Amino acid sequence: MSRLSLERLSKRFGTSVAVDELDLTIQQGELVALLGPSGCGKTTTLRMVAGFLPPTSGRVLFDAEDVTRQPAYKRATGMVFQSYALFPHMTAADNVGFGLEMRGLNAAECKARIDEALKLVRLPHLADRLPRQLSGGQQQRVALARALVINPRIFLLDEPLSNLDAKLRSEVRLEIRALQQRLGLTTLMVTHDREEALTMADRLVVMEGGRVRQIGTPQQLYDTPKDAFVADFVGRCNILSGRRESEVQFRTDSGLALPVDSMADECKDADAFALRPERITLLTGGTDGVQGRLKAVTYMGPQTEYVVAVGEETLVVIRQTPGAGEPLAALKPEDTVSLQWDRRAPRLVPQTSA
Ligand SMILES: Nc1ncnc2c1ncn2[C@@H]1O[C@H](COP(=O)(O)OP(=O)(O)OP(=O)(O)O)[C@@H](O)[C@H]1O
Ligand SMILES: [Mg+2]
Repeated sequence: MSRLSLERLSKRFGTSVAVDELDLTIQQGELVALLGPSGCGKTTTLRMVAGFLPPTSGRVLFDAEDVTRQPAYKRATGMVFQSYALFPHMTAADNVGFGLEMRGLNAAECKARIDEALKLVRLPHLADRLPRQLSGGQQQRVALARALVINPRIFLLDEPLSNLDAKLRSEVRLEIRALQQRLGLTTLMVTHDREEALTMADRLVVMEGGRVRQIGTPQQLYDTPKDAFVADFVGRCNILSGRRESEVQFRTDSGLALPVDSMADECKDADAFALRPERITLLTGGTDGVQGRLKAVTYMGPQTEYVVAVGEETLVVIRQTPGAGEPLAALKPEDTVSLQWDRRAPRLVPQTSA
């Protein structure tokens, strides 16, 4: 496995810029996820790393080796796509071995490598099945084995789980992560699913319009987002625009006063208050805290979501679902509630950053 470095990597299609001077280093054995809205340049970046698409400018390095102009087949990247892209007329084993034959290994070597790869994804018993005789999750594991069988230098995943249903997705997610860690695979993964990104990645890159907004660990991006876009993209967030009024108070444009810490500012011209729904405590009655009126209660199983009108603003609160008899269990729309939070929980961020 290699370290992957992207240096000022750009791709233009005609006059439109798909990827704009991307700088990123992925250490050996690290899993980095590119996260961002549709069209922000995630797949384009991956394709440049794989060698399917020549960059307009910038460099791609595997360790110290410049591979920018190397064709895809020489780069030894293992790639898994959203669609499994298996050959329908070939068995699981033949699909896995396809890349090996092209590499000129003899039959015995091929068979050993295929067996090993199928074992890694726990499918050796299904080696002789055709893709249509496999479930979606099994097909994706065959695709995974096919990517791993060549002992790739860099492992590339483009939304590998988006064709799977929710339960299977979380299973395969854990499986890929365990495999990636066990084999020490240097991995670049693309997703627009924030839960997938937060749970799987060592570091996240939030992109927008071909540019990096912020790079950091999931915790860094979740707890200290640089701007409102990142705050909102990595998780649900209450974002209210306004200004800091004092050391301990933020005033929204609508005139609401909200408690904050003196150290909450991400930059000196922060104009938005960002607070995660689960950081707010909801109390029935009482006059401490910010007073509001409950607008909606949505049961989500382990958690319950409360929408609260506070002055002209709306705040979303997420709490652990109360048991029968607890005060919150009796709440209904139009009840008066008070909201409290640790002053250190809100971040003051710019709505947009340069
Ligand atoms: N071959 C191409 N020719 C012209 N424009 C392209 C081409 N490929 C991609 N683009 C454009 O480049 C931009 C980035 O596309 P890309 O596929 O990288 O987005 P993405 O982040 O992967 O989006 P999604 O989440 O929808 O998969 C888009 O505006 C897209 O329309
Ligand atoms: Mg894409």
